[in-house]
Amino acid sequence: MLSWDDEPATPAPTKASPAAAPRASAAAPHPAVVMAASPSAAPQRAQAESTKVEAGFTGLENLDMGARRIQVDDKKIINCRADLNQLVPFKYHWAWEKYLAACNNHWMPQEVGMSADIALWNDPNGLTEDERTIIKRSLGFFSTADSLVANNLVLAVYKHITNPECRQYILRQAFEEAIHTHAYQYIIQSLGLDEAEVFNMYREVPSIHDKAAWSLPYTQSLADESFHTGTPEADQRLLRDMIAFYVVFEGIFFYVGFVQLLSFGRRNKMVGASEQIQYIMRDEAMHMNFGIDVINQIKIENPHLWTAEFQKQAADMIHEATQLEIRYAHDTMPRGVLGLNAAMFTEYMQFIANRRCQQIGIKAIYPGADTNPFPWMSEVMDLKKEKNFFETRVTEYQTGGALSWD
Ligand SMILES: [Fe+2]
Ligand SMILES: [Fe+2]
Repeated sequence: MLSWDDEPATPAPTKASPAAAPRASAAAPHPAVVMAASPSAAPQRAQAESTKVEAGFTGLENLDMGARRIQVDDKKIINCRADLNQLVPFKYHWAWEKYLAACNNHWMPQEVGMSADIALWNDPNGLTEDERTIIKRSLGFFSTADSLVANNLVLAVYKHITNPECRQYILRQAFEEAIHTHAYQYIIQSLGLDEAEVFNMYREVPSIHDKAAWSLPYTQSLADESFHTGTPEADQRLLRDMIAFYVVFEGIFFYVGFVQLLSFGRRNKMVGASEQIQYIMRDEAMHMNFGIDVINQIKIENPHLWTAEFQKQAADMIHEATQLEIRYAHDTMPRGVLGLNAAMFTEYMQFIANRRCQQIGIKAIYPGADTNPFPWMSEVMDLKKEKNFFETRVTEYQTGGALSWD
């Protein structure tokens, strides 16, 4: 295991060292001018190259004037030392395709009417107490969960993914996480819920707290400023974080809540909230699939990371998370409601966990759990019936958002 007190295996890049930083002085030319014009810059760069760590570039390096142009084969998902500011030539077409698809799926929470939900919520006989508990607990989990995912992306993962087309998708994903947090806030506000109660649930309700708390160590260690990829231990740490957030958090921890909230919509209750969850689930499925593509591409480019021991760690993480999610299902619905019961969620989460294992290429951990008790979930994800909604919205945007130069 990597200790944060250890010295890096090789010295940090020269440009990151305070001693090597350009000194500000009235007489000194702009550092960029020095880089381009001074013949002495080349030997300095050569020396820096010879002592570099194998960590990837960030995209903030000084420009290498006249350097060879980027070739597709120069690109790598992690530890890439080719210019990160040039989107093309594309190497990972799947990342760009997902970026385009995500943009095509753009939606905003305010476009979904909430009046039927508000009327139902305010009707004393509209919902049972158990139904109200499910809605409040789901909002309690989701309202802070998307913020945790966004923070992991922006503060921990983004810097270490050294590929422009993947970064393009991650930027889009980060915005979508903001839209999701906005959607939960919009539902909470529409229903007139106690905002402090809902947003504090991850610090006050054990089954919600435990899911958030499970994920935090993975992102905390990666966000540490002394962390750099480029050693097998560090690269495995990045892979662990990717599994924790893309496979577990977005691929396991969201799914009891999705089934519960969508079950309201299937019974023509809370139709506005349910519609928002449909859009969120579609986004989340793409986030998860993107993360799985990244994980699998890292494996292809770095097969030495995918050891038997590492696969065991990944399986253990998925097992722990599945147990937390099953406990969350029991906590949110101790009695059967909406045609659901907690036992169905045990079967469902084991099915989902096996699917996640298969997607990253490890053995299923729950033998026999190969039936989805909620087959309608995959139909909901298609969102075909919502096609008109998007067509209408795009037209409205084009009209309302047109620029005027008057
Ligand atoms: Fe999200
Ligand atoms: Fe997400």
